[in-house]
Amino acid sequence: MDQRVRIANTGIEIACRPGATILAAALEAGVLYPHGCQSGNCGACKSTLLDGRVEMEGYSDFALMAEERARGQILACRAIAVTPCEVAWLDVDDLIAHPRRRLSTTVVAIDDATHDIKRVMLRIDGGGPFAFSAGQYASVAFAGVPPRDYSMANRPGEDVLEFHVRRMPDGVTSAHVARAVAVGDKVRIEGPFGTSYLRESHRGPILAIAGGSGLAPIKSIVEQALARQLPQHIYLYVGAREERDLYLHDHFATLAAAHPTLHFIPVLSEPGGATTRRTGLVHEVVGQDFDDVDGCKAYVAGPPAMVEAATMLLTGRGLRRIDVHADAFYSAAEMAAAGRKTGDQM
Ligand code: FES
Repeated sequence: MDQRVRIANTGIEIACRPGATILAAALEAGVLYPHGCQSGNCGACKSTLLDGRVEMEGYSDFALMAEERARGQILACRAIAVTPCEVAWLDVDDLIAHPRRRLSTTVVAIDDATHDIKRVMLRIDGGGPFAFSAGQYASVAFAGVPPRDYSMANRPGEDVLEFHVRRMPDGVTSAHVARAVAVGDKVRIEGPFGTSYLRESHRGPILAIAGGSGLAPIKSIVEQALARQLPQHIYLYVGAREERDLYLHDHFATLAAAHPTLHFIPVLSEPGGATTRRTGLVHEVVGQDFDDVDGCKAYVAGPPAMVEAATMLLTGRGLRRIDVHADAFYSAAEMAAAGRKTGDQM
């Protein structure tokens, strides 16, 4: 039997088929419900269950902590209504809903950012600009391979979109990008998606933490914050394994030299020799620098383990969970294991 679920933020009531999650039913009904991974791992769909009962499919503690569940919070992407319900998503004041669009683009440049990351520049063929908030992602369809989710690394409003594509083991699409994509190729994009975007009204310090090609959305966030002349300090931590995995170093060093509010801290986890850089896991270095992060906002993007560790550290140091905007990049294999959408997202 279908269950009726009222979404308090919109006043809309939707019908949830047996076995369908609240998020799936809401998206099917055209509701712009905040979400990210759709697999219980990111927390972007966190909601308050105001009335009724749900059954929860598996999820990570990172996405929903035990005390949050005890307070009546749920993950809409894992919640199946077993009675009529009323739910409200969190963080409603910050919600920005850009219309979802499909656009044709052309590759205007592709180069090696590192030995395993390609930087792909796509010019919008027509109908631009592509409206999104800094930190969001799009589904990118190169010809002949499955579409994948990649974050925009450029600022909103620009004619050329920038994506960072890391070569994944067994990644069909990333292998294609590494070997075959060339200037002049047509690429379809659809989006934007994601809720881990820059909150421009916030005035506390910004912690921007990137691992690997998670630098893409963080780059967009940092550059947008600077372009908007946000007054607070921005602490940009970029984690990489060794020197050859660091990219856009000179770009950010130059930005930091020009903007006294930007502090750029590259971190190597396996330097493989003497180095003048900070070393260790990137979240550990953040922990060395900050005892208390109350009042900050954190934007975190990278491999799931790094995102989870950084989030745990930050919440343990006083940051409210709603002030951590985290984007974990799952491989196609990880997504498939979760039984959800696939994406060799960086
Ligand atoms: S969308 Fe529900 S936890 Fe990520």
